[in-house]
Amino acid sequence: MNVLLVAGARPNFMKIAPIYRASLACGSVRCSIVHTGQHYDQEMSGTFFEELEIPQPRYSLTCGSGSHAAQTAAVMVAFEDVCLKERPDLVLVVGDVNSTLACSIVAKKCGIEVAHVEAGLRSFDLAMPEEINRMVTDAISDHFFVTEESGTVNLLREGKPAERIHAVGHVMVDNLLHQVACLSRQDQTLLKGFHLKKEASPYLFLTLHRPSNVDCRETFSGIARALNELARNRTIFFPVHPRTAKTMKENGIRLADKVVLLPPLGYREALFLWKDAEAVLTDSGGLQEETTALGVPCVTIRENTERPITVEIGSNVLAGTSPEGILAGLRESLAKKERARVPELWDGHASERIWKVLAGGEGDAIKP
Ligand code: UD1
Repeated sequence: MNVLLVAGARPNFMKIAPIYRASLACGSVRCSIVHTGQHYDQEMSGTFFEELEIPQPRYSLTCGSGSHAAQTAAVMVAFEDVCLKERPDLVLVVGDVNSTLACSIVAKKCGIEVAHVEAGLRSFDLAMPEEINRMVTDAISDHFFVTEESGTVNLLREGKPAERIHAVGHVMVDNLLHQVACLSRQDQTLLKGFHLKKEASPYLFLTLHRPSNVDCRETFSGIARALNELARNRTIFFPVHPRTAKTMKENGIRLADKVVLLPPLGYREALFLWKDAEAVLTDSGGLQEETTALGVPCVTIRENTERPITVEIGSNVLAGTSPEGILAGLRESLAKKERARVPELWDGHASERIWKVLAGGEGDAIKP
């Protein structure tokens, strides 16, 4: 079976890495990585291939940044050439970025089957570009690999056939557990390049990049007020996404000295910091899940989440974006820590289950 495995943006690389590695154990599968180039800076893309132990992509497209339409269109045009040349049996897409949407549309129109990993997640917020990407990708995919029960419920509600929906766990957790095991060998040297030492006293780890949070001056200022309050008595490590760096400057956002601004970090550097944080504050989708998997309290600076399991059984708290909400969210998340659990099947073996389904094993289709 000839499979094209698509990655485009930062959160995709950690998901395709374990899928690629597990494909090597399937004799019948030839899996080729396609990098669309949606993210292109060394620190947003390049570093990941080495540290995630995946080979350089067979196809590196150079689609780059742009408006949603321009970026999606550029990926579609370039990926169509790849599909016509390779004529794969299957295109495997992950997550919910513009590249996920673009490549699934192209594959289907070329008559190629599409498998969506992390299918069925819904925030029910169509103001989020990712929600549109998730819905359209799922509307045309042939195989659905879900990470949590809400994914199955949403897909069944949308009329997807139960035998095409597979609860396999989470490939991002496969990667996370693999990387945690690799860390101890390296951790002393990891942060040297940043002239940074991990603190013994409690600290927070922050990521922020959603357009709804950082493109709007009023919202960003409110979040900054909460951060400056929290930074009165602890350090906050903050790797700054390029979009955020730009809007911080444009909007004149000022953060306290104890908010330590860092460039975007590699996967292991970030993990090394957040795994021992008192709590993580984030508007990312993936970090809500990764913190749940390692039992680190998480405060989600958003009004909704497409990953409700992290709130139901983990210590993730949906705090909204107001300063009061964020401060209360941190208190609540710390209080929930002891009761938090890890979701079913988030055990490091999701990628193997995916190949078992795709490469002809019996699989575990959902019973309606
Ligand atoms: C994209 C995804 C989002 C994901 C995020 C992770 C979509 C719709 N959004 O958002 O779901 O959580 O990636 O990072 O696909 N830029 C650089 N260097 C790069 C890439 C981008 O400087 O290597 C800057 C450019 O100014 C660009 C901006 O970041 O215009 C935004 O990049 P883009 O890929 O459009 O969206 P993200 O905000 O990164």
